[in-house]
Order: sequence, then C-alpha cells, then structure tokens
Amino acid sequence: MKKTLKGQSILESQQFDKEILDDLFKEAGNMQGVCRFLDGGEVSEDAVQECGKIKSGMAEKKIALLFYEPSTRTWSSFYVAAENLGARVMAIPPARQFSSVVKGETVKDTIAMFCGYGIDAIVMRSDKEGMAKEADEAAHSNGRQVSIINAGDGSGQHPTQALLDLYTIKRFFEDELKKDIHNEKINIAFVGDLANGRTVRSLAYLLNKYQDPEKLEFFFVSPSVLKMKDDIKEYLTGKDVKYSEYEKLIDVADKVDVCYMTRVQKERLGGIQVDYDFIRSNCSITEEVVKKLKKDAIVMHPLPRDPAFGEIPEWFDSDPRAKYIQQAENGLYVRMALLKKVLLG
Ligand code: NCD
Repeated sequence: MKKTLKGQSILESQQFDKEILDDLFKEAGNMQGVCRFLDGGEVSEDAVQECGKIKSGMAEKKIALLFYEPSTRTWSSFYVAAENLGARVMAIPPARQFSSVVKGETVKDTIAMFCGYGIDAIVMRSDKEGMAKEADEAAHSNGRQVSIINAGDGSGQHPTQALLDLYTIKRFFEDELKKDIHNEKINIAFVGDLANGRTVRSLAYLLNKYQDPEKLEFFFVSPSVLKMKDDIKEYLTGKDVKYSEYEKLIDVADKVDVCYMTRVQKERLGGIQVDYDFIRSNCSITEEVVKKLKKDAIVMHPLPRDPAFGEIPEWFDSDPRAKYIQQAENGLYVRMALLKKVLLG
C-alpha cells in the first residue's frame, strides 16, 4: 500500500521516510510550475488542468495559522502557500499578544475551538518544546480530523524547515552537480548555536531518513557552551552515522559540501554567557573560510541572520555558493506541496 501524508499531523522529522520524501519533493517541483502559472508564466496544458483540480479540491479547506512566536518566512510562506492553493486561510494575529492566550487560555482549549470551527489544518509555532504534540493530542481527543503542522516548537523541532532545507540540498546535487543524491556522500557542517537551534535538530533527523548512513557525515561547529545536544548525537551513533565536533569553522571548511549556518538563539540562552567575539571570528563566514570552501559547496541558513553577530556577512550574498535566498523561496514550493499532500493526498 502506498504511504500517504493525507490527514496526518506533521510533528517531527522522524515521522518521514525516503518514499514519502521523494513523493513530496516531486510535488514541490510541480508546485514551482503552479507558481509560475499563477505569476502569468507559460506552463503546459497538463499543468493548467492540474492547477484547476488542486484549487477546486482546496476551496473547501480551511487552514489556520496560529503563531505564538515571531516569524517572517515561515508565516508568510505558509500564508502564500495556502492562498496559492486556493484554500481559506484564517490567520490569527500574533497569538501571544492578541488572542485569549493573553488571558491564560490553554492550547487544549484553543485547539478545541478551532476543531469546532471546522478547521482542517493548524499551522502552529510556539516557544514551548512539545506544544505541537500537545495540540495534536488535544485535536484527536476531540475526535475531529484536523492536522497540526509544527512550524517550530521552542528548541524542539522545525520539521517543515528541514523539508525545505533537504529539498534545497537535493536540488543542488541533482540540478547543479547532475548527481543522484542517494549515490553521493554528503558532508555537512552545522555551524553556530547547535544547542538551541531547532532547525539543525530537525535537519539531522531528516537527513538520516533520506540517506544511507555511510552517505552522510556531520561536522558540528560551535563554541563549547552551544554544542549539539546528546539526544541527536546518540541518535546518530545508534544509526552508525559519523559526526565530529569542532569550535572553528576554518578547521572543516575544505571538507564540507553543505555549510549550514545558524544564528545564536538569544531568546533561548537562559542566562548562558556566550563569547560573541569568539563566534564572530570562528563560527562565521569569513574571507579565510571562503577561500577554503570547496568550489562546489553551498552555504545555507534558515534565516534570519543576525547582522550584529555576522554569521554570514552581506558581501557573501553574490557568491554563487550562497543558497539561503533560494532556500527560503523553496519553502513556498515545499509548503504548498505539504499542505496539498496533507489535505488532499
Ligand atoms: C528559524 C526558526 O524559527 O527556528 N527561522 C525560520 O523558521 N526560518 C531559525 C531562527 O530563528 O534562527
């Protein structure tokens, strides 16, 4: 039986497998065509018909965006994705400020309300690890079919970011290097705040679901107070995937195919003292790092980057290896594909 995402909640990267991911990424490629058509570009007659079919199926669907934490890309790309698909979008203004959360309402009660309004999917971002799972349990205890999509839960996970990250890596291998990603070994550096960043956690799990263990190697680069947490390292060891830890990007710059930069998650440091000068010199894209990076490497970042810390200086943006803007654009295609798969199959 073919596996499907229809009716499922998207809570963590571990729930995916290679077959589901390949199917989703194929759909993301189609969505790029749909976007071209919506922008007035030329597409095949088949694509026009497919677009009409999706829109009529989605016209009945209601998608709520419930964000308890700031967001630019994730919020807007989900919003545009839902609109492009022709769904009805209920965008809740910043939940921490304007909704009844201010009055102390629990997630359970909020979700129960949404279920009552006939919402089909709730895209949810929170500052609390595990909140998406809590919402999912609340939705199911209500007996309604509503999918919860985790758009980031504290320092837990950010699975839809990992999907667009992996899609970007796949497109690089396939479109630019003309190689089948599954036959290649990916050496990937995660750089910056690995202790509090949820994107690197989700991407570590997801890469493991997509590549054979011997085709993957992680290089974790961070100051000692921001090291990758043990749960991820234990997971990798259990899967026989190699990883090693460093404090300076320059030490691995010539080894990696993908250099995934992150900002210091200041809002989650909880009193930990961070030496910003050390990070600025050693966990950032510097001229020395750029000289050592392979010609065929790519530099990614989930964004926002932090100009005060300077993990990727603006002068690097014109380098062909800079992929973070394309990466963010891919978020639209991947999120359209995901919403379509979850709501229509
Ligand atoms: C990331 C997040 O919210 O975790 N941003 C995003 O969704 N693109 C990364 C971050 O805030 O540093």
